[in-house]
Amino acid sequence: MTATARVPDLVELQRRAAERAAARAGGGDRLRGHIVCDGLVRIFKTEGRTDAVEVVALQGLDLVVDRGELLAIVGASGSGKSTVLNILSGLDVPTAGVARVAGYDLLGMSAKQRLQYRRQVVGFVWQQTGRNLLPYLTARQNVELPMRLARRRASSRRAQELLDMVGVGYCADRRPNQMSGGEQQRCAVAVAVANNPEVLFADEPTGELDEATAAEVFGALRTINAELGVTIVVVTHDENVSSQVRRTVAIRDGRTASEVHRTARLAEDGTHEVVTEEYAVLDRAGRMQLPAAFVNALSLRDRVKLTLEPDHVQVRPGGEQ
Ligand SMILES: Nc1ncnc2c1ncn2[C@@H]1O[C@H](COP(=O)(O)OP(=O)(O)O)[C@@H](O)[C@H]1O
Ligand SMILES: [Mg+2]
Repeated sequence: MTATARVPDLVELQRRAAERAAARAGGGDRLRGHIVCDGLVRIFKTEGRTDAVEVVALQGLDLVVDRGELLAIVGASGSGKSTVLNILSGLDVPTAGVARVAGYDLLGMSAKQRLQYRRQVVGFVWQQTGRNLLPYLTARQNVELPMRLARRRASSRRAQELLDMVGVGYCADRRPNQMSGGEQQRCAVAVAVANNPEVLFADEPTGELDEATAAEVFGALRTINAELGVTIVVVTHDENVSSQVRRTVAIRDGRTASEVHRTARLAEDGTHEVVTEEYAVLDRAGRMQLPAAFVNALSLRDRVKLTLEPDHVQVRPGGEQ
């Protein structure tokens, strides 16, 4: 799919984010693999009335996020999105696999390291606006609070700068109940980066907002990404989000299933065009998921016929046996 667009500010923002991230990391050669999940498994065991029930929330999830990237994860309800974010933010521990963020091994951390990790390395924005901000503090005080908890000197100037950056500087002296849902979530983004974390996670931050307001929150995330070079992973069930970010990863049944990339290139007439391409994700064992729409269109079931061609692979219905 090719769409001609005005100057793609998404690309410019992405370039600035990569530049800032490289500066933070001490060189562009350290850009890759800021977040690495490899074969990540999370099994929940719950006690039923008669026996224990196991839910496999993640079944071998692979994901690499570059330093300074702004990545969206999409997927239906129950596909494992929150489980991944909870693991990556140090709130939950995986059953098996590899999970590494900013050099921290999330399976092998002591309780003390985990606490330090959560306070200093990651920031988090929740879906419920009420969970992100303290109701009796103003926006500015809310942004100052994490600085105080980390025993840093709270700087009201930095708090104001961050609120300005996410476009709600005018709310600095308001309490949450004097702000709209979108303003609260943008303020929550400022709170989450108050201690200058390496990584910011947001779990459906726009889930309770209408489309226009959601776009403003995404705008705030893009600005923070570009200005601070923070790596950002945002989870959403909104499929339209891929127009807001450069890379979107889709999760299905606890695995990464496909990716959408948006890149800009110079068209022949000199204008920029944004090209959107969708990829299926191939794991190390060579497994991939066919998109549900393809499976349905050809009524594919049970087995398919594969044929190797010089430069592609054909997939045909397998027929009755
Ligand atoms: N604490 C838990 N105990 C038992 N099952 C859970 C728990 N958390 C999540 N699950 C299950 O794991 C699966 C993935 O959940 P989740 O990561 O919350 O999905 P999503 O965020 O994509 O909606 C679901 O089947 C859910 O019911
Ligand atoms: Mg969820």
